[in-house]
Amino acid sequence: MAVSANGGFHPINLDDYEATAKERLTTQAHGYFSSGANDQWTLRENREAFNRIRLRPRVLNDVSKVNLNTSILGHTSTMPVLVAPTGMQKLAHPEGETATARAAREVGVPMTLSTMSTTPLEEVAESSGKGLRFFQLYVFQQRELTVQLIKRAEAAGYSAIVLTVDVPAMGRREADLRNHFTLPPHLTLANFDEETHGATRLCGAREAARDGSGGDFGLADTKSALSAYVNSMYDGSLTWKTIDWLKSITALPVIVKGIMTPEDALLAREHGVSAIWVSNHGGRQLDGVDAPITVLPSIKQALAEKPVMESHFRMPTRMAIWVDGGVRRGSDILKALALGADMVAVGRPVLWGLACGGQQGVVDVLSMIREELTLAMKLAGCNDVKKVSRQLVRLAHEPV
Ligand code: FNR
Repeated sequence: MAVSANGGFHPINLDDYEATAKERLTTQAHGYFSSGANDQWTLRENREAFNRIRLRPRVLNDVSKVNLNTSILGHTSTMPVLVAPTGMQKLAHPEGETATARAAREVGVPMTLSTMSTTPLEEVAESSGKGLRFFQLYVFQQRELTVQLIKRAEAAGYSAIVLTVDVPAMGRREADLRNHFTLPPHLTLANFDEETHGATRLCGAREAARDGSGGDFGLADTKSALSAYVNSMYDGSLTWKTIDWLKSITALPVIVKGIMTPEDALLAREHGVSAIWVSNHGGRQLDGVDAPITVLPSIKQALAEKPVMESHFRMPTRMAIWVDGGVRRGSDILKALALGADMVAVGRPVLWGLACGGQQGVVDVLSMIREELTLAMKLAGCNDVKKVSRQLVRLAHEPV
């Protein structure tokens, strides 16, 4: 990282943001943001899988101008990149999710707000203004609570519901156990009020469990406050019928986040979702699964080969594919587009930007991503994201 004489912060890549964020965050917050599940094999694999993919540049193709504008669910994004949902952003910066929302609007990319936000979704919507925003949904055992969240998201101008399906139980994140991760007393899960939810503060859950009054949470030494919360509140009994239910109560497009196999991609299409979000939750859930970028080609192929099944659900003409996990370079985005992604999401880099400089930090991170993508496109001989083709990459098993 370039450090000026006065010790200023001059990041030249996304890893520099991460290094500085680590210095600025508490051990607990950094552990929560950075860690993966168990041995963190999948967390590392998310990065390493990109390194095994080779680019095949073409030349003499006039790249003096590069077009990154992308259409997403009938809206426009200034690049094929969106902000992934990450919980508890006030752990990174006092302005938390509102700073991220303003940054995403400034850069012209969609933001996805987590159910586990430390700012109420209405307040984030206000900061997002005319910006494109999606609401990420966890389904609670209390269905009424879930319905209320959807209705509030609709009323606050969110343009899609992103249903996360890879948390039927909380992954085992050992950093959170070691650090006794809890929300600090001044923060709450702000999409809920204490009256209806009863556990807006995770630290409350932990303390209650410690003094024996929190039997609901079943907290043992092997569970963090967060996993106790998730396992006691989230509905672990979801099935494909849940998508039908969701579509019956909202007219917003439904995106399913956490698809990792062609089989589930086909089922998602049968159930009429507008997009699948290929993701392993940033390596935070099931350790040992492949990187999303590794499974993307087989998902793309399965969808292309199998015709759309007729059903009584409203079918989108074409289901979009979004992907995330380990994206840290513009060239990673190019590789994902070449392998069939329509949109590419970033999670942790936004948190690092937020920790380093609030709204401006996130703007800088997203701008760095844009610059890197533009340069990668130029060097690969591609002047429009719409023209990125499968020929642009070579997988390890494919001949040179
Ligand atoms: C997440 N992720 C996540 N996903 C989700 O659907 N709802 C959520 O509340 C959260 N919360 C969350 C918190 C933190 C700290 C992280 C790092 C991640 C997963 C996230 O949306 C995304 O899938 C990954 O972060 C993508 O991987 P990268 O870009 O972080 O490598």
